[in-house]
Amino acid sequence: ESIKVFAPATVANLSCGFDVLGCCLDTVGDEMLIQKNDLKTVRITKITGQDLPLEADKNVAGVAVKAMLEHLNLEQGFDIEIHKKIKAGSGIGSSAASSAGAVFAVNELLGKPYSKNELIPFAMQGEFLASGNAHADNVAPALLGGFSLVKSYEPLEVISLPSPEALRVVVLHPLIEIKTKDSRAILKQTVNLKQAVQQWGNLGAFISGLYTEDYELLGRSLKDDIVEPVRSILIPFFEELDKLSAKHALGFGISGSGPSVFALCKGDENAAKVYEEFQEFYKTKEIEFDLHVSPVN
Ligand code: HSE
Repeated sequence: ESIKVFAPATVANLSCGFDVLGCCLDTVGDEMLIQKNDLKTVRITKITGQDLPLEADKNVAGVAVKAMLEHLNLEQGFDIEIHKKIKAGSGIGSSAASSAGAVFAVNELLGKPYSKNELIPFAMQGEFLASGNAHADNVAPALLGGFSLVKSYEPLEVISLPSPEALRVVVLHPLIEIKTKDSRAILKQTVNLKQAVQQWGNLGAFISGLYTEDYELLGRSLKDDIVEPVRSILIPFFEELDKLSAKHALGFGISGSGPSVFALCKGDENAAKVYEEFQEFYKTKEIEFDLHVSPVN
């Protein structure tokens, strides 16, 4: 018995929601093939597309599935094949896709002992392995689809949010690697009250925009004076891309912990224009890049 799953890429933070907000990219992601084995062990049998550890305890998918089996007190083994399309260290939830895809597939093969929401803590174990921090803003939208809000971590409470139909996300990934662990380490641990007020105002407004399908409000709420100023220094041509996107995108920011950046757009036409503008601009630079465009779903 085997199952093939699509493990989607995700954009975390969305500027105003550091560690609590994320969305799922409908058309960008990995493929995974998972089957039961008779060995009572979890094995990563094959990885294509990226050079990642095959040892289950060092692989985010292996760790997430093991956490789940331990919770179920089950000795069943699984073989996991991962076909990576998302590059590691890209900022679009590469590790989250593998963790979330693996626990989702195993749950299906076991007859769904858990709801999708209940799978989030297991997938978070993979994030802990990858970055030293068990954040849920990539794994939650990868499992639930659309937009997710982490209302609280202790206890974990995740809320699914509506996804306005015309939203498109353009992601530019400069092919330099920024490790989430490193880009978390440079962040200040305290926030000034004035900045915090602005940030929760924007987060609330963004969520309101999702419910009311107010695209302009969504764009105006994509602001971040806390994390972005620190991290954007690591991203080549961040300012230029921000300015470039202003004409056709609703808003612009860092995708997760970078180096990918994203532009939120209304409709395919605007997304195509931003895609082209990014492409033309980056083509003239020394850095190689990937470009993606996707609805949120
Ligand atoms: N919220 C996380 C961060 C996402 O920004 O560090 C990265 O995986």
